[in-house]
Amino acid sequence: MQINFTAPSTECSGTLVVAATETGLLPAASALDKKLGGHLQRALGTARFKGKAGQIVELLAPVGLQASRIIVVGVGRNERFDGPAAERLGAAAVGKILTSGEKELTFTIDLPKGAKLKAAQLATHIAMGAKLRAYSFHKYRTKQREEHEPTLTSLVIGTEDAGSARKSWERMRAVAEGVYLARDLVNEPPNVMSPQEFASRTLALSKLGVKVEVLGEKEMRTLGMNALLGVGQGSERESQLVVMQWNGGRKKDQPVAFVGKGVCFDSGGLSLKPGASMMGMKGDMGGAAAVTGTMHALAARKAKVNAVGILGLVENMPDGRAQRPDDVVTSMSGQTIEILNTDAEGRLVLADALWYAQTKFKPRFVVDLATLTGAIMVALGLEHAGLFSNDDKLASRIQEAGREVGEPVWRLPLADGYDKMIKSKIADMKNISGVTHAGSIVAAQFLQRFIDKTPWAHLDIAGVAWQDGEQKPLSPGWGVGWGVRILDRLVADHYES
Ligand code: BES
Ligand code: MN
Ligand code: ZN
Repeated sequence: MQINFTAPSTECSGTLVVAATETGLLPAASALDKKLGGHLQRALGTARFKGKAGQIVELLAPVGLQASRIIVVGVGRNERFDGPAAERLGAAAVGKILTSGEKELTFTIDLPKGAKLKAAQLATHIAMGAKLRAYSFHKYRTKQREEHEPTLTSLVIGTEDAGSARKSWERMRAVAEGVYLARDLVNEPPNVMSPQEFASRTLALSKLGVKVEVLGEKEMRTLGMNALLGVGQGSERESQLVVMQWNGGRKKDQPVAFVGKGVCFDSGGLSLKPGASMMGMKGDMGGAAAVTGTMHALAARKAKVNAVGILGLVENMPDGRAQRPDDVVTSMSGQTIEILNTDAEGRLVLADALWYAQTKFKPRFVVDLATLTGAIMVALGLEHAGLFSNDDKLASRIQEAGREVGEPVWRLPLADGYDKMIKSKIADMKNISGVTHAGSIVAAQFLQRFIDKTPWAHLDIAGVAWQDGEQKPLSPGWGVGWGVRILDRLVADHYES
């Protein structure tokens, strides 16, 4: 989809988008209404349009106008209108006409008085919302594909400051591409998206200047990654560790590190999940997808940072060779783990991936993303990701980044009392507590045992990585691509030289 920024105009072919606040039409909409002899106001009255955020009215084939239709979008109260609100506006308009047969969409939206935005920001946030909403994943449809396929090919966004908008869009577009990539990876079915297939898709990032290395089982065995390898042991498919490096910072700068859980399918292993809970477990690599999307974004926008992305890619399957409940494995850190439930596999994968990240790269911080526990949805539902951290500064920076980009997180505690719950009778620790309390915290405590002194944060994204029910305004379809925007923003706000 082509996106252009130009001076505002209501002369266009295709669909024209104008806006109204709760106090009335914005100037461009008002001018348009005059031109149409009051037809716009009349239509809005008929539709009981109040200018509330998200309200939308469509006028087809307006007489005396070149445009094929007009869309009026409500933006709510002036003073509440900020970046995320502009994104929802762009998304709402695109959602309305994406597959309608229309090719071109022109936004002529004035900055509401009192809004917390500059003209160029208004334009780029509209573009971001529009772009994220225009995503689709229909490659496996062979029938009725046309009706589902987007017809929209061109967005024109009117702005008084097209120069600045074009410049900052370059950067935002890179982030949107990263989100698309993460969504694609999550949406692919698990017969296609094996650990090796995932790894081979990350190789495409080398075109952007990312150094990509893939370790197979042999190399991981040499490194002593038996916690990760144990999880993949029951699968026909080889486990992989992907190491991506983007060196956009100064040579001597320590890198930041992102680690992703990449369980390409989680059957539970011998502690087999019931059938209904297994559905959707192709998405158990959502953390790895987010890290890959983030590396794409950082490289594509040439971020002035050194960043490493590490993915632990495995498939958790039951088999004659599969890991058993009661097994004891020695992790790369040297610590031993008694496996009591093979379905608590994400923490095993991360234990070795986190250890590798710290010992190999001595990062400034490490953030891991993982669809780690069903319990995080019991605690937080589908609105917030769970945040755990050993570092208050890192934690508050992540919270702030999340608020800015509309990927909110909620911090939960870590404490010795929870750590005691994973004491094992025969090894250094066990992989589950054995009680149902505080499942997400216990999982985070387990991870913390593999953190040295590095500032660390863990994001449990089990509730936000994909969506079965209601669709988020900026995210059509199943895989959300959650994590790319928050990590990119964290870097942009605090870690670029
Ligand atoms: N991948 C799951 C967590 C999950 C569940 C993500 C539902 C998304 C939706 C994880 O590997 C898992 O199975 N966790 C267990 C842990 C338990 C065995 C301690 C869980 O949440 O039940
Ligand atoms: Mn599991
Ligand atoms: Zn899992």
